[in-house]
Amino acid sequence: MAEFEPKVVAFCCHYCAYSAADLAGSLRLEYPANVRIVKLMCTGRVDASHLLKAFEAGADAVLVAGCEEGDCHFREGNIKAKRRVGYARKLLREAGLEGERLEMFNLGASDAHKFAAAVNEMTERARKLGPNPLRISREHRAKSIEQRAKRTRAPGTRAPEKPNERS
Ligand code: FES
Repeated sequence: MAEFEPKVVAFCCHYCAYSAADLAGSLRLEYPANVRIVKLMCTGRVDASHLLKAFEAGADAVLVAGCEEGDCHFREGNIKAKRRVGYARKLLREAGLEGERLEMFNLGASDAHKFAAAVNEMTERARKLGPNPLRISREHRAKSIEQRAKRTRAPGTRAPEKPNERS
């Protein structure tokens, strides 16, 4: 069986975390390539629903990376984000997922090593916890629908045309 490669989503604020991610790339620091960065002007823009949506879409771990406390360019966006991350972790646990799959990090624009460490940490956590159960059930459901469609298709007939294939 192929080794499980976690999908990590990182919500990064433009001023610090995104700059740190950019610098990590310029310095060619090693961190897993399976992280997808969502750039925001400030982590204060992150809502619990955005975080849950990322898990629903199949992320195995999600991190929110903002400026150091007291350094937010929108005064207290990172404080609000921290509260929302806490709330979303609670909701995750209620939904049967591990709260450790979600974490908030604070870093400065030059903290490239800290950014790489945060991505590494979340990837390792996801690797230990295993695939997101929501992703597994989605993939399983898609496969079973496909198999059912194959079984019920009359011999010699073609698969139905997908809506986006129409001209
Ligand atoms: Fe970076 Fe608000 S501007 S967290």
